[in-house]
Amino acid sequence: MSGNNANRRLKFEIFRYNPQDPDSTPHMQNFEIDELPYMSLFMALNEIREKHDPSLQFDFACRSAICGSCGMMVNGKPSLGCRTQTSDLPELIRLHPLPVFKLVGDLSVDTGIWFREMAEKSEAWIHAKEAFDPAAQEDRMDDETAQKIYDSDRCIECGCCVASCGVANVSGEFAGPAGLNRMARFSMDPRDTRDDADWFELISNEHGVFGCIGMMACHDICPKELPLLEVYAYLRRKALTTALK
Ligand code: SF4
Ligand code: SF4
Ligand code: FES
Repeated sequence: MSGNNANRRLKFEIFRYNPQDPDSTPHMQNFEIDELPYMSLFMALNEIREKHDPSLQFDFACRSAICGSCGMMVNGKPSLGCRTQTSDLPELIRLHPLPVFKLVGDLSVDTGIWFREMAEKSEAWIHAKEAFDPAAQEDRMDDETAQKIYDSDRCIECGCCVASCGVANVSGEFAGPAGLNRMARFSMDPRDTRDDADWFELISNEHGVFGCIGMMACHDICPKELPLLEVYAYLRRKALTTALK
């Protein structure tokens, strides 16, 4: 569809609820605005806030699919508000906050709590046995490994994959797509000294890669197009290889 799809009157149905306000109850609120050429959801929500309701809560920072703060349910699909063009949507646009994460208010959620807990559970940092020596020569890494790590590191922690995952929606213990990606990233890193048994304990259970039912909603939804399908295949292979040793 064209990015320049003017002359439409857009109808928004937006989830409203302020958990901090005892008088607030969850409900949908309707707004209407004129569509502008090349209008993103970021622009549309700003227009609604400026012209109709300054109390509307939503998050944006970079406006260019880098910071990961603008994830929301757009007509039932987890999406980045800043990179979603209204011209790619029908005239009626329903917006909800991402599920799974703590609701701050209206469309704003705190993904940071979930990602911090996931990082702590999976110990998402390099486990090195030797102390860092700033005078030592830099470790070498082969290009293929560096590329795979780089691919996983492109995750902007927007939470869209987590929101799309049926398992993550019902189990707070499941590492979720972004968590599995983090585990794969560190298990591939030659500087991380965790051995196969350590990784087996972390990934080979229902909270790890065997909790994934493989419908690949996460893979289809990821706005950064991370190769999540390959990530799970890698983790399953790693788990099975260790089990068969
Ligand atoms: S493929 Fe696995 S991790 Fe991805 S959405 Fe489905 S259950 Fe969740
Ligand atoms: S894997 Fe993709 S969808 Fe999931 S948090 Fe990272 S960037 Fe967002
Ligand atoms: S505003 Fe940063 S990703 Fe959308």
